[in-house]
Amino acid sequence: MSVPHSKKKITILGVTGSIGQSAADVILSDPERFDVQVVTANTNAELLAAQAIKLGAKKAVIADESKYDLLKSKLDGSGVEIAAGEEALLEAASEPADLILAGIVGIAGLKPIMKAIEQGTCVAIANKEPLVAAGPLVMAAAKQHGTTLLPVDSEHNAIFQVFDFDRPEGIEKITLTASGGPFLKWSTDQMANATPEQAVAHPNWSMGRKISVDSATMMNKALEVIEAHYLFGVEPDRIEVLIHPQSVVHSMVEYKDGSILAQMGASDMRTPIANVLAWPERMETPGQRLNLTEINQLSFEQPDLEQFPALKMAYECLEQGLYACVALNAANEAAVDAFLTHNIGFLDTIGCVSHILGDITKTELNTIDDIISYDEDIRQKAYGFITGRHKKAVAVS
Ligand SMILES: NC(=O)c1ccc[n+]([C@@H]2O[C@H](COP(=O)([O-])OP(=O)(O)OC[C@H]3O[C@@H](n4cnc5c(N)ncnc54)[C@H](OP(=O)(O)O)[C@@H]3O)[C@@H](O)[C@H]2O)c1
Repeated sequence: MSVPHSKKKITILGVTGSIGQSAADVILSDPERFDVQVVTANTNAELLAAQAIKLGAKKAVIADESKYDLLKSKLDGSGVEIAAGEEALLEAASEPADLILAGIVGIAGLKPIMKAIEQGTCVAIANKEPLVAAGPLVMAAAKQHGTTLLPVDSEHNAIFQVFDFDRPEGIEKITLTASGGPFLKWSTDQMANATPEQAVAHPNWSMGRKISVDSATMMNKALEVIEAHYLFGVEPDRIEVLIHPQSVVHSMVEYKDGSILAQMGASDMRTPIANVLAWPERMETPGQRLNLTEINQLSFEQPDLEQFPALKMAYECLEQGLYACVALNAANEAAVDAFLTHNIGFLDTIGCVSHILGDITKTELNTIDDIISYDEDIRQKAYGFITGRHKKAVAVS
């Protein structure tokens, strides 16, 4: 006879996004296991309301206050409590839960993640940008408050599953795999003319627009190198990236005796999400399954750093210090947004980050407020670059 256990209380930050919707799918596949507390979104009130009702959430929070009335009308009579604004988002992250899934995109997720960590609530982190920009502070806060952090990113979740946390001295290196994105075989000239629609059409994964563009520039892998360094405490020279276009091996840990432990699975975020939601148990997942007999080939190759310079930038930023990682992330967020809104070209995204990184000086960042203020300064500089590029493009056409 199975022992009935109490339901796990889950809060989902960013429930309307790709990660949030995959998490909802996993939760709804085993509703007896979970009890959804708060769900949040930025502006998409309609989908937030629909998700709150579907998941039986107690509360729905929308960051954009102008969407409060719409959310209210959509949830009228549902019994779901509602709130709006940045403060309400922080409160959502502080409300009691067994696990908070951090699925917001960008640095906007940093303060909510810190709030959740300060409550000692287990945080499953998909939202990589806060780790890139504030990794040392996030990890120190988790240590101070005894908070468990669970990685959701498929590569980091793979490493998490095969990393010997009790004997890390036995680990030689970790290898992050990268699909190479949609432009792996494209020339630089072709990439110069890539459209947002082409850039977000990832060959293996279905994801939000920002991370899809990051995958196309390989900035995503750059952010992941920094994320892995902070999450696992492994030095950058022991973090390797290999191109693995099939996205079957999600990442690997190599031990000193030559053993390589890898985690494999389908290209479906519902697997790593189920892994963290059920952790330390395992649950059935509604996601796709890997059929090894259908895979003819697993290939691995070194990335071309000339074609994808973002990777090199990640190692250089780690060597320079936290301020450089903040700058890398902030410039990239501004540039990707400008590309997605057709204000700059695809290669200008990396051009913008490179330009910004060439113009920064060592800056002490000791608090989250320091980081947020430096992030804002860098964004302003990036907007200057973007406006210049945009004017040039308009003049040429
Ligand atoms: N998607 C994946 O497969 C995947 C895999 C690994 C890691 N990740 C990481 O997970 C994070 C989420 O990615 P995603 O692809 O799910 O992104 P997404 O589809 O764009 O969803 C982003 C979510 O964050 C909310 N949001 C955006 N800006 C916000 C703000 N300023 N304040 C509060 N909420 C805000 C959005 O709300 P609205 O809908 O209202 O805008 C939405 O719910 C990213 O950091 C990404 O790198 C994603």
